[in-house]
Amino acid sequence: MTRVDHPAIVNIADLRDAAKRRLPRVVFDYIDGGADAEWTMRENARVFDDVLLRPRSAVATPSVDLRTTVLGTTLDLPFLLAPVGSSRMFYPRGEEVAARAAGEAGTIYTLSTLSGCPVRDVKAATRGPVWYQLYLIGGREVATTGIERAKNAGCSALVVTVDTPVAGMRERDVRNGTKELVSGAPFAMFPYLFQFLARPRWLAAYLRDGGLMSFPNIVLKSGPMPYADVGAALEQSMVSWDDFKWIREAWQGPIVVKGVHTADDARRAIDQGAAALVVSNHGGRQLDGVAPTLRVLPEVLAATGSQAEVLVDGGIRRGSDVVKALCVGARAVLVGRAYAYGLGAAGGAGVVRAIDILRAGIVRTMKLLGCATVRDLDRSLVAMPAEWRE
Ligand SMILES: Cc1cc2nc3c(=O)[nH]c(=O)nc-3n(C[C@H](O)[C@H](O)[C@H](O)COP(=O)(O)O)c2cc1C
Repeated sequence: MTRVDHPAIVNIADLRDAAKRRLPRVVFDYIDGGADAEWTMRENARVFDDVLLRPRSAVATPSVDLRTTVLGTTLDLPFLLAPVGSSRMFYPRGEEVAARAAGEAGTIYTLSTLSGCPVRDVKAATRGPVWYQLYLIGGREVATTGIERAKNAGCSALVVTVDTPVAGMRERDVRNGTKELVSGAPFAMFPYLFQFLARPRWLAAYLRDGGLMSFPNIVLKSGPMPYADVGAALEQSMVSWDDFKWIREAWQGPIVVKGVHTADDARRAIDQGAAALVVSNHGGRQLDGVAPTLRVLPEVLAATGSQAEVLVDGGIRRGSDVVKALCVGARAVLVGRAYAYGLGAAGGAGVVRAIDILRAGIVRTMKLLGCATVRDLDRSLVAMPAEWRE
């Protein structure tokens, strides 16, 4: 396994390279890829270049305080770990491992409905808060029991993802035979199996962890949902604004709506009782051609005012990206691939490394900007294109 404390692992791109070396192509591309031409995925990251920093020089900032509050919880970092489905495929007990690293760092881990570890085990693995991300897979009854399990496990917010009425067209997954590999049909699987043999260490760890798993947080009448059924299940599990009534009744705690792109949807989410919004396009994995998230953040902030907390995700690979998003106005950000690469490269040590890289980058950027606390980060510290100020 790659030593992630190695001096050659300097940034998130190095962790990505390390993940590429350890994971079979089908797993690496599942993390790394996006929808269709992957334009939105690339733009999410590139758009940070459109925001320029305006430092206040010669300001003494001997220590920098990264603490912030999200939905009433004080975090040691202004970033959270985003829901990343099937993390257990990247590393044994992947969701527990990532949650533990988040808790040690003083931040929140968000568990996907489509995870390989049960919510109870994930919550028990960390001393930090856990949010539960909801898909309505299996219908209302199955989702309600999932919500109950999340509540009983002690999750502190429910994240309802609203941008997934169907799975996006991930061309890399088609080429790598994802569907065939989870079909369980030997003849269909055969042409794609060699990518696993090229990664024997990953394969051994994966098999030790139980091999192809089901989804323990989606319990159908027949038992936990098998891997093979994900695509079809997502199409039958669309969430609509009308669903929020029963979701609110079942959950009775703070609701975060994830996947907001526009002022209209921000207002709808607030009308449905959202305590926080995540400006997100699912990391460019759903509708290709939507604007990068940082670009639409000002519009959503203007529509939301103080009615809900606004978070953003997409394309964050450096501490300075986090700082820019906070300067534009996000309360905090979520990171997806940045930690998923770490998990794929080296399990918990890789997630810790990803968090350390981002934390150090935020601290350094804030010192260079002349800011001692996250509260000081505002638009006076950035130059952004005039047409963004909506
Ligand atoms: C491999 C992978 C799996 C994901 N699975 C989910 C999921 O199950 N539910 C969800 O709401 N978002 C999911 N996302 C989207 C992330 O929560 C987040 O919005 C996105 O990764 C942010 O972009 P970034 O990866 O550029 O940081 C997934 C993202 C990745 C990369």
